[in-house]
Amino acid sequence: MVILLAKISPAIAFAADSSEFDFFEQKIRPVLVEHCYSCHSVGARDSKKLQGALLLDSAHAISIGGESGAVLVKGKSAESLLIKAMMYDGIEMPPAGKLPDDVIANFTKWIEMGAPDPRVGDSNLAPKRQINI
Ligand code: HEC
Repeated sequence: MVILLAKISPAIAFAADSSEFDFFEQKIRPVLVEHCYSCHSVGARDSKKLQGALLLDSAHAISIGGESGAVLVKGKSAESLLIKAMMYDGIEMPPAGKLPDDVIANFTKWIEMGAPDPRVGDSNLAPKRQINI
C-alpha cells in the first residue's frame, strides 16, 4: 500500500489547480512571451527564426523539449535544462542578458510545483526540423 501511494502521489501532486495556473499567468507566461518567444515559438518557426528546435509556447511543446531532449523535469528544477540555461550554466538564455534572480526563482518554483501550464494551441505539434537547401 505504501509503495502504491508512492507511485500515484506524483500525479496528485502535479494536478494543477487554478491558483497554480494564476502563478503561471502572473509570473511565467509574461517572461516567456517577452524574453523567449522571439526564438522559441510557432511564430518564430514560421518566420524561420526558431532556435534549438525548441518551442516554449504550449504545454505540450515545452514538455517535448528541443534538440537536446527534455528541457524541464517536472518537480526537479535542478535537473531542468530550462533553469540551467536561465542561470547561464552551460548555455545562456536569453542570449541578450541574464534575467533577474527573482525571475529565475519563480521559474524554479514553477517547475517544483510540477510546471502547471494551461496553454493549449496550435503549437501542439512537434517542432519541425528545417533543412535548408
Ligand atoms: C535571440 C534568440 C533566443 C532567445 C530570445 C532565447 N533563446 Fe534559447 N536558444 C537560442 C539558441 C540559438 C539556442 C541553441 C543554441 C544553444 O544551445 O546555445 C537556444 C537553445 C535553448 C535551449 C536548449 C534547447 C536544447 O534542447 O538544446 C533552452 C532550454 C533555451 N534555449 C531556453 C530559452 C529560454 C528559457 C529563453 C527565454 C528566457 C530563451 N531560450 C530565449 C536562442 C534564443
